[in-house]
Amino acid sequence: MTTTTEEEEESEQVVTPWDVSAGADGKIDYAKLVREFGCSEIDKNLIERIEMCTQTKAHPFLRRGLFFAHRELDEIVTAYEKGEKFYLYTGRGPSSESLHLGHLVPFQFTKWLQVAFKVPLVIQLTDDEKFLWKDLQLEDCRRLARENAKDIAACGFNPETTFIFADASYMCSSFYVNMVKIAKCVTFNQAKGIFGFTGDSNIGQIGFPPVQAAPSFPDCFPHMFGMNKKSLKCLIPCAIDQDPYFRMTRDVSHRIGGYKPALVESRFFPALKGESGKMSASDPTSAIYVTDTAKEIKNKINKHAFSGGGATIEEQRENGANLEVDVPWKWLNFFLEDDEKLKEIGEKYGSGEMLTGEIKQILVDVLTPMVEDHQKRRALVTDEVLDVYFNPTKTPKVFLDLFREYEEKEFGKWEKKKGGGDSENDDLCAALEEKMKLEGATENEEGCAIGAPKSEDWLRIRKERMQRDAPTEGSKSALKKAAKIKAAAEKKAAEKAAKAAARGEAAT
Ligand code: TRP
Repeated sequence: MTTTTEEEEESEQVVTPWDVSAGADGKIDYAKLVREFGCSEIDKNLIERIEMCTQTKAHPFLRRGLFFAHRELDEIVTAYEKGEKFYLYTGRGPSSESLHLGHLVPFQFTKWLQVAFKVPLVIQLTDDEKFLWKDLQLEDCRRLARENAKDIAACGFNPETTFIFADASYMCSSFYVNMVKIAKCVTFNQAKGIFGFTGDSNIGQIGFPPVQAAPSFPDCFPHMFGMNKKSLKCLIPCAIDQDPYFRMTRDVSHRIGGYKPALVESRFFPALKGESGKMSASDPTSAIYVTDTAKEIKNKINKHAFSGGGATIEEQRENGANLEVDVPWKWLNFFLEDDEKLKEIGEKYGSGEMLTGEIKQILVDVLTPMVEDHQKRRALVTDEVLDVYFNPTKTPKVFLDLFREYEEKEFGKWEKKKGGGDSENDDLCAALEEKMKLEGATENEEGCAIGAPKSEDWLRIRKERMQRDAPTEGSKSALKKAAKIKAAAEKKAAEKAAKAAARGEAAT
C-alpha cells in the first residue's frame, strides 16, 4: 500500500534488529518510528506514576527521554499500583569480546527498574542468533556469551533475583514448547514482512524470532515463575530496534494463552564519531569500551568525539555549539547524573561561553571513574560467581516469598553467595517443594508466581506496612537500618577485640 512520494526517493531510514541507518539528513526520526511501529511515547504523567508507585526518583534515562517509547507500560504500572508484580526480560547478542558504553545503557536502566520495582529479571544471551547471522563459530559465540555475561553481571544485578541464560545452553522443554507454539502462529509471509527475510536467509534465521519471543512468557522459567503462562506479566526494556520481535510476540500472545509483554524502549546511543556513524568492533576508535584505560578514554574523546562546537575558538565564542550533533554533550546526557550541572553545561556550551576542549574534559572526568568502577566490579565476577547467575536449580530463583521477604531484603548481597555456601538456598528450595506438595499442585494461580502471596494478601501486607511506616516514611526505616548496621559493626568490633585480647593473653 505504499505510495511513491518524494520522501521515498531520498534515502529512507532503516531500523531493523540487524540494521540501523539514518535517513538522508543523517538523523533518526524517532517520532516517525513511533508512528510506524505503533508504539506510544512515554509522557510526564507516566513517569510521575512510576515515581509514585516505586517511591524512587526516575532514572536520568527516563527523565531525559532516552527511554522514550513504550507498549502498555502504563498497564504494568496500573497493575503494580494495585499490588501485582511483574518480571523483567532483556538480553544481548554476544558478538564481540567486550562491551562498549552503548551496550551498558539498557543494562544500567534494567538494573534501576529491578531495584525500583523490586522484581525478578531474566537476561537472554542469544549466542544462537549471532552464530546464525555472523561469520562466527558456534563455540565462539557460546564463549562470548559467558564473557559478556561477566560485564552484564558487573552492572550490579542481584544474583538472587537475576537469571542469566545463553540459548544454546539453557534450551529446555518449557522453552521449546513455547517456541513451537509461537512459531505455528506466524507465517513465512508475515516473518518476511516483519523482519525482511528473503529466499537467501538461512532457515535458522527464519526460525529464530520465536527464540527471542519465548522468554516473554514466564513458563519458560519454571524454576522461577512456575508453570502457568500467566503467572506474571513481563516488561521488556530494550532499544527500539528490537521492537519487531516483540510486535510479533504481542500479536501471538493471546493465541498461545499468555499476556502480551509490555515494552519500554530507548533511543540509540550515538556513536563517538557522530550520530550517523556506527560503533564497530573492527574500528577501536569508533567507540569507548568498558576495557579501555583512562588514557585511551581521554585520547578517544579528544581526538575522535564528533564536535558541534565552532571550528575555531573565535567561532565558538561567537556562535556557540550545535548541541544537536555534539557527541560529548549527548553522552553527558546519558551519563552525567546531576541535572543542574548538565543544564549549566548546555547553556554555557551552547552559547559559546564554554569551549569544546572544556566539555570534552568534563566528559573524560565523568567516564573515567565510571569505566574504572566497572572494571573493578567485573574483576569480582569469577566463573564461580557467574555460575550462580546461570544456575537454574541451585539458587533460590524461585521466590518463595517473592513479594514479602524479598522486599525486606537488601539488594546486592553478593559476598554471601560467593563462598558457595548454599544452605540457605537449599532451605528455600526445600520449603518451596513442601509448599507445592501441600497445595497438591505444580501449577500456580494466574497473576501469581510460585510462593507469592495471593494478591489480596499482598494488598493487606502493603497496607499494614504503609501504616507502620506512616508518618516519616523512609527516615524511620533508614534509621532502623542504620541502627542495625551500627549494632552489627559494634558487635564485630567487640568480638575482634575479645579475640585479640585472648591472643594477647595466650602470648604472654
Ligand atoms: N537480539 C538482541 C541483540 O542482538 C538480544 C536480545 C535477546 C534482546 N532478547 C532480548 C534484547 C530482549 C532486548 C530484549 O542484542
